[in-house]
Amino acid sequence: MITSCFVSENELTEQKVIAAELAQEIRPRGLTFFVETFGCQMNVRDSETVKGWLSMIGYKEAENKESADFILFNTCCVRDHAEKRLMGNIGALKELKDANPGMIIGICGCMMQQEGMAKKLLRRFPHVSLIFGTNVLHRFPEMLRAVLNGDRIAVTDRADDAIAEGLPKLRDNQRSAFVNIMYGCDNYCSYCIVPYVRGHERSRKPEDIREEIANLCESGITEITLLGQNVNSYGNDGTTGMRFADLLRYISDVPGLKRIRFMSSHPKDLNEDVMQTIAALPNVCHHVHLPVQSGNSEILKRMNRKYTREHYLSIIERLRELVPDIEFTTDIIVGFPGETEEAFRDTLSLVEQVGFASAFTFAYSPRQGTTAARMEDQIPEAVKKQRLKALNELQARKTVENNEKYIGFVGEVLVEGCDERGEETMLYGKYQNFKMVYFTGCKELLNRYVTVKVLQSNKNSLLGEMIDA
Ligand code: SAH
Ligand code: SF4
Ligand code: F3S
Repeated sequence: MITSCFVSENELTEQKVIAAELAQEIRPRGLTFFVETFGCQMNVRDSETVKGWLSMIGYKEAENKESADFILFNTCCVRDHAEKRLMGNIGALKELKDANPGMIIGICGCMMQQEGMAKKLLRRFPHVSLIFGTNVLHRFPEMLRAVLNGDRIAVTDRADDAIAEGLPKLRDNQRSAFVNIMYGCDNYCSYCIVPYVRGHERSRKPEDIREEIANLCESGITEITLLGQNVNSYGNDGTTGMRFADLLRYISDVPGLKRIRFMSSHPKDLNEDVMQTIAALPNVCHHVHLPVQSGNSEILKRMNRKYTREHYLSIIERLRELVPDIEFTTDIIVGFPGETEEAFRDTLSLVEQVGFASAFTFAYSPRQGTTAARMEDQIPEAVKKQRLKALNELQARKTVENNEKYIGFVGEVLVEGCDERGEETMLYGKYQNFKMVYFTGCKELLNRYVTVKVLQSNKNSLLGEMIDA
């Protein structure tokens, strides 16, 4: 059994003292920050923590990169184009730095945990002075102090059993929040770099999770998304005394919590107890993001996914039986090594059969250090591209079909945003099962729940009218 070590309160207090000292110097100078986030919700969540520290240290959020005194890129490395893009982005900042020599440029996130990357970037880009990985967010004040004193540093410890509680956060809205329930991943899907850069799987304590949610709800937030690479394996290591279904039950009665979402779900660990719990608890949303990756059992085996096509379909069927209005979204990879035309057709037929509300689709991208990158039968790029196109066309048709079901549907929507279009204000938000709808209204309704009837289905979205505010 792996036991997680928790970052001690003393250590955190020390960091907060450093933050307060820095604030005395930074705040009067009116300095600003700009954080650009790539990748998944884990990174979004980590950026909130960095922004939380920066605010504590006295920086204010800048409107854009050009006007910022502190610029940070939070990087992703799940597919290979990310690296090229990052290099371009960083290179382009040199001019800004020349114009404002006091500016600090930093890079953090998953890519920095790749072997040798941090040092390479520090060498290649003299205008970058701060690099840190995913496991040292709790030491941000100390790192920033070193940089403000003129050092150039790269901190990418593999202290990957650490869980830090009580870090500051700066969120960009008052309605919805991400809450980590676990960090890292132990699944080692053969194509995936995440376990190497995010460390082994560890679960937060249920009490810490509940307390965080309770504080959020007290501050007005009504929707939370529980985050983990495989939320269904929460507590499977026996360290928390609770499994995922228990955790859902344990948090569901937090006062003011109207919607509970979670992602991602790994099909191999989504058990009957979780399914029954989704059906039973009134505030667990009827949406499951259930990455299938491939519709062919042989490929799934080579991907080390530990389920078959049939098992996947049986989960979909069972959940639809228990929760008739449930919607599914998914992730799919095409062109995995050894994927024959026939295997690819199995993916198409699964997509046809399930009818996902939407899907994130990717061409397989070899990642250094993973098992799949060493497999022999790699698929040519042109074939991957062609398969991706065919899959996207199919999913586009399925999305339209899915949308059409909603004409006449009436339900509660949490208003997430508004677009002012001349005289008209278009609002948008989601039903509890993740379907997005657009409708006219006024921006005072932002973050509130309103009842909306769907009038029209477009290619990618639903158009409705508000029938009750
Ligand atoms: N933990 C989540 C996925 C996180 S990564 C899960 O297991 O569901 C998000 C998605 O990126 C994956 O679901 C997969 O579809 C895609 N992905 C991961 N590695 C990839 C690679 N090497 N090439 C292409 N897509 C990849
Ligand atoms: Fe990657 Fe698989 Fe872990 Fe998801 S479950 S992060 S795809 S190794
Ligand atoms: Fe990317 Fe890291 Fe998420 S590699 S997908 S940001 S866990």
